Amino acid sequence: MAIQTILVTGAKGQLGWELGQLAKSYPAFKFVIVDRSQLDLTFPETFEKIIHSIAPDCIINTAAYTAVDKSETEKELAFTVNATAVQELARISKGLAIPFITYSTDYVFNGEAVEPYLCSTKVNPVNYYGSTKAAGESMAMEANENTVIIRTSWVFSSHGNNFVKTMMRLMKERPNLNIVADQKGRPTYAKDLAMATMQMIESMNAGKTINGIYHYANVGETTWFDFAAKIKAIAGLDCILNPIETKDFPTPAKRPAYSVLDTSKIEQDVEVDIRHWEDALKECIELLNLNVL
Ligand SMILES: NC(=O)c1ccc[n+]([C@@H]2O[C@H](COP(=O)([O-])OP(=O)(O)OC[C@H]3O[C@@H](n4cnc5c(N)ncnc54)[C@H](OP(=O)(O)O)[C@@H]3O)[C@@H](O)[C@H]2O)c1
Repeated sequence: MAIQTILVTGAKGQLGWELGQLAKSYPAFKFVIVDRSQLDLTFPETFEKIIHSIAPDCIINTAAYTAVDKSETEKELAFTVNATAVQELARISKGLAIPFITYSTDYVFNGEAVEPYLCSTKVNPVNYYGSTKAAGESMAMEANENTVIIRTSWVFSSHGNNFVKTMMRLMKERPNLNIVADQKGRPTYAKDLAMATMQMIESMNAGKTINGIYHYANVGETTWFDFAAKIKAIAGLDCILNPIETKDFPTPAKRPAYSVLDTSKIEQDVEVDIRHWEDALKECIELLNLNVL
């Protein structure tokens, strides 16, 4: 059955919002994009009735509990949203015989690798957020074999809360900033991830079998410090940036030192052409500077 009606959760998040923007370029699909007030992931028992009334051909779950540090103390809530609710969405999709697409994180890995993490690398999270996402992955795949998990990392967008917007604000407010320089990862523009997701759906409609775990991030690896330096240069801001070590910036949740994702599977299976994160960042900052959003 071809996918026509797509239910998207998390309308107000970075990725949900980008999918909403992109929907305008896909008139062949009907998008039903819901926010927390319409589908609250803390109440999985309410999903079935809501989803059956929409009768989607595919569910894309972008909603998540993404407060990495807070999840160390709000464990029950984080697990409900990132694991129990994801399992229930997968179970309902299975009942409807439709694909279920959901997102996970580079934080399912322990950060001890020295080369990019493959989709098949064993998970071993070092913080509670990562544990909830890892649990959500396996619970969803068990509930519906037609599940796609897209792990992503260091997500930014012109919409919502993210490192790019926080850095631009702080660089305007403060004369200098200390930025962690010993964690490595791949930044991801939510707009590019939204486009890759739609490419996946088009591949499914073309008859390709797509399920299991994929990784998506923009091309190029960097550190938070170098990411901030690039934001400063592109945005033309004046602020002294000081590189610091993770040990000098203690946070409630431990971060993996190295969380570079290998994206070759999505590039091969879905023929996604991924641009460099610096090009995506330029576009994002141009949008922010235009203040058109
Ligand atoms: N952000 C990153 O750097 C990052 C990195 C790796 C992986 N990911 C994953 O990528 C996916 C998309 O992330 P994102 O950056 O778009 O996240 P985001 O901007 O933080 O948005 C998350 C959305 O989830 C919604 N949400 C939270 N709790 C909910 C609940 N109980 N019921 C319904 N909605 C709820 C939030 O609603 P409100 O707007 O009402 O709060 C928000 O709109 C997530 O699976 C995330 O775990 C993100």
